[in-house]
Amino acid sequence: MKNGAFVTFEGIDGCGKSTQLERAADWLETEGFPVLRTHEPGGTPIGRKIRRVLLDPANRKLCPDSELLLYLADRIQHLQEVILPAKASGTLVLCDRFHDSAVAYQGYGRGLDLTATASIVQNHIIPNLPDLTLWLDLPPKMALERLKQLRGANMLDRLDSETPGFFQRAQAGFAELAQANPERFVRLDGTSDIETLHQQVVACFQDRILS
Ligand code: TYD
Repeated sequence: MKNGAFVTFEGIDGCGKSTQLERAADWLETEGFPVLRTHEPGGTPIGRKIRRVLLDPANRKLCPDSELLLYLADRIQHLQEVILPAKASGTLVLCDRFHDSAVAYQGYGRGLDLTATASIVQNHIIPNLPDLTLWLDLPPKMALERLKQLRGANMLDRLDSETPGFFQRAQAGFAELAQANPERFVRLDGTSDIETLHQQVVACFQDRILS
């Protein structure tokens, strides 16, 4: 395989995507492929500054539209500075969240009208969509339980303290995105154990990226 690829891992907070990304990256490296692990928000130095603003629980005054534009600013910077050059050099770029998260969280979760940002998305995101998106589908109740165990009830950041309804809507958003983009999306059952999921992720890479 000479070409690089851009693969994203998506799902609501606590769905297990970061664990699967790490396992997939480890496996690909063992197989001898050049791999870059990255994430949004915060995949560049500028993006890390944006991330601090986005996830600071003190920023209650952050307007929903400002929030959306900050996610997009982070994404454009990440694409130009990291994702596209790495993919062009033949690297497999594995990214924890990408634009589907904005559609699910800001669009479906917050109910924002995304048409105001359509031209930004058309110019910067649509030409650079992932080659494959792995969606870990886990019911919001189970995801929230996992998060509480993982981080402790008092250590939730601004987004983690959203209402359960927010995550239900975001979850419905991911489901609609998966249905509307079957050529790019693969749904994985997030209730499966880590090893079973890893084998399914490996099979996806073999079928869709490495063959
Ligand atoms: P993070 O700590 O990276 O969580 P996770 O491991 O679940 O990705 O926090 C990122 C948060 O930002 C997460 O709650 C999802 C949210 N988010 C959006 O709302 N819109 C976006 O476009 C992106 C990329 C993330």
